[in-house]
Order: sequence, then structure tokens, then C-alpha cells
Amino acid sequence: MTERIEKALNEQMNAEMYSAYLYLSMASYFESKGLEGCANWMKAQTQEELIHAIKFYNFIVERGGRAVMAEIKAPPSEWESPLRVFEHALEHEQLVTSLINKLMELAIEEKDHATQIFLQWFVTEQVEEEASAGAVVDKMRLAGETSGGVFMVDRELAQRQLPIPMPQE
Ligand code: FEO
Repeated sequence: MTERIEKALNEQMNAEMYSAYLYLSMASYFESKGLEGCANWMKAQTQEELIHAIKFYNFIVERGGRAVMAEIKAPPSEWESPLRVFEHALEHEQLVTSLINKLMELAIEEKDHATQIFLQWFVTEQVEEEASAGAVVDKMRLAGETSGGVFMVDRELAQRQLPIPMPQE
């Protein structure tokens, strides 16, 4: 593995950790508004991002590189509305898609086939990530800004299963 690839994989591991941090901040915002279902959706998303970060970690180590923990920047903690939170989540996923695409382009440039194959999972995953955040944005827009509509969406988002089961709360 070249130094450029190792550095770029480490940067993406950090970006996945930031994603986890951002979604946990969004969960906390929803918790403070009494929207437990939205908070549940964000906590499931946080766990997914941690799994993504660990996938990068494992791959770096398997290739004989060194996974280095860099500083994780602080995410925002306030948003204008529940809809705005999900719009931000969708925008964030679109940004992550562009980061994965750039990483893939670098792996092609460096003729690093193993990294290209590893990244294919993330290319597919990003389609799913954008679709699931986009679906909630659509629901929130339909619900409008009425509390009744938002609470209906909240009830639905409470159904999302956590990828990693948590101890009894
Ligand atoms: Fe790790 Fe939400 O992409």
C-alpha cells in the first residue's frame, strides 16, 4: 500500500468517525425535543458510521499500515427544525459519497486493486445511505411543520433496529 493510499484511508476513517459524532449530536437534539423515534434513527445511524470507521481501520491494518486516530471536529448541536436536521444528514451523505468517489479515483490512479475492491462496498453503501436519509426528508416535508405530522414520522422512525443491540435502557 502506498503512503498516499494509507493517508487517504486514514482520512476517510476520521470522516466516518465525524459522521458518527454528527449523528449522535443530531440524536441528542431530537432527545431534547422529545422526539425519541428520530433520536433512535440517529443512534442507529451513529452505530453504522462506527462500523464504517472500523471497516477502514481493519483494512488499513490488514494491508500492513497504521491506523492513526486524528482529532475529530465538533459537529453542530442546534438546527432550525427536525426537517432541517434530516436535510443536513442528506447533504452530509452526499458529501461522504464524493469523498468515497475521490478515494476510488486515487486507488485507480495508484493501481491499487485491493483498495478498489474494498471501496466497492462503500460505493454501494452510499447509494443506500443517501436513499434512506432522502426518504426521511420526503416524509418530513410531507408532514409539514405541524407537530402532529412530525410526531407521526417520529413514531415510524422508532421502528428502526439498532445494528448493535444495546443493553436494556
Ligand atoms: Fe459512512 Fe453514512 O456513510
